[in-house]
Amino acid sequence: MADYIGAVDQGTTSTRFMIFDHDGEEVARHQLEHEQVMPKAGWVEHDPVEIWERARSVIQKAMGKAGLHAEDLAAIGITNQRETTVVWNRSTGRPYYNAIVWQDTRTDKIASKLERDGHGDLIRHRAGLPPATYFAGGKIQWILENVDGVREAAEKGEALFGTTDSWLIWNLTGGTDGGVHVTDVTNASRTMLMDLETCEWDDELLALFDVPRAMLPEIRSSSEPEGYGTTRADGPLGGEVPITGILGDQQAATVGQVCFEPGEAKNTYGTGNFMLLNTGTELIRSEHGLLTTICYRFGDEPPVYALEGSIAVTGSAVQWLRDQLGIISGASQSESLARQVEDNGGVYFVPAFSGLFAPHWRSDARGAIVGLSRYNTNAHLARATLEAICYQSCDVVAAMEQDSGVKLEVLKVDGGVTANELCMQIQADTLGVDVSRPVCAETTCLGAAYAAGLAVGFWSGTDELRKKWNEGKRWSPQWDDQQRAEGHAMWTKAVQRTLDWVD
Ligand code: G3P
Repeated sequence: MADYIGAVDQGTTSTRFMIFDHDGEEVARHQLEHEQVMPKAGWVEHDPVEIWERARSVIQKAMGKAGLHAEDLAAIGITNQRETTVVWNRSTGRPYYNAIVWQDTRTDKIASKLERDGHGDLIRHRAGLPPATYFAGGKIQWILENVDGVREAAEKGEALFGTTDSWLIWNLTGGTDGGVHVTDVTNASRTMLMDLETCEWDDELLALFDVPRAMLPEIRSSSEPEGYGTTRADGPLGGEVPITGILGDQQAATVGQVCFEPGEAKNTYGTGNFMLLNTGTELIRSEHGLLTTICYRFGDEPPVYALEGSIAVTGSAVQWLRDQLGIISGASQSESLARQVEDNGGVYFVPAFSGLFAPHWRSDARGAIVGLSRYNTNAHLARATLEAICYQSCDVVAAMEQDSGVKLEVLKVDGGVTANELCMQIQADTLGVDVSRPVCAETTCLGAAYAAGLAVGFWSGTDELRKKWNEGKRWSPQWDDQQRAEGHAMWTKAVQRTLDWVD
């Protein structure tokens, strides 16, 4: 068998390709950013053609760096930003519209109408999700209603919907020349259109969003021994490689962190923060503002479920300091700037740029910086931004403990922001538990590689994968209980301001 597994991670800000060996060690990677298109307040789009071009380039560059060819890869896996919605034409391969990104809030009226008309409980029960702008169903509906010709084409099966996993696989396997139109259960579970129990598209949910079934991809498991398809010989790999794993990026990180047992959880710090708690084959419905979602499904095994706390804006708040305010020149400078002060100087920043997700689910919330005095500097704002990342995660952990009845003993973390050591220390301080980062912080790509590799027998099973996890660094709380309680009380007051804003 070939010696390597590849994985594409099509994320919110960039696309990367990584190659792993049998030990799960990185062999090579390449990564490219793509444009964030923001035509109006609250709207966020990506160009799907640019994303496909980026995917091709990163695959070619990483393979070149490693000096590998298609025959060296046993399989590849795909992981992706979830919910981001692409609709394209089956015959021309052209998207009808830019991808509507998960952060986009243009569908707030669709979401609030569903709730007002009394459909909220059905969606919560069947799909595990509250009606919200975050998920794909409303975004598909918006494209069907606002882009000329799409509805008719969708009814005939000419217009195809997919999240970016589907879009890339369709292009990798053939595009207009016989591409496969598939997704996996984890991605499908983010649409508000899939029944969580049957793992199939649900007619009642489709009717609520007026989405024709003919435009939807086939739902497959996350790790497929038969594969979803094979890359085209004239594609970026230059040969035929089976695609055997698909996982939404947060579920991929959960697999990469080897959270295979019920009760195991991870928190990923990227554009947003996403905490997933494996609940096993038991489907737990949240009573505290979390989502119920599919964690993964390997082959014919029953699906494994998760409770998820999604936070829309964490790392992207640091980008906002860089791009919109210009007070830092790079993400790493947020740490050095924040270290210039001992505390937040009374400043709290709630970056509710896309409303507030878990546990509030308020699309109408808007960001706020409160507690300012003339004494405050950029450094306090940088510190308040790092604290916001951590306090939002504290709120999610509290909801998770209430839903599951299990007290968190250590928080497993990963993602780009975990390189910020001060942020991780603040996380331990505000949470009051140890924070642990693995040696391999690239858990998203690793998880997709694991899913693909398990399917083809490259790895024997989850026990083998579990042995590959090693702790890289641990942070322990330094705040006392009083400091923690006072900080959290102020944070909660600041959050309340963002909820009151529109009233
Ligand atoms: O649900 C959105 C999530 O999948 C995005 O993840 O890492 O691309 O920001 P990321």
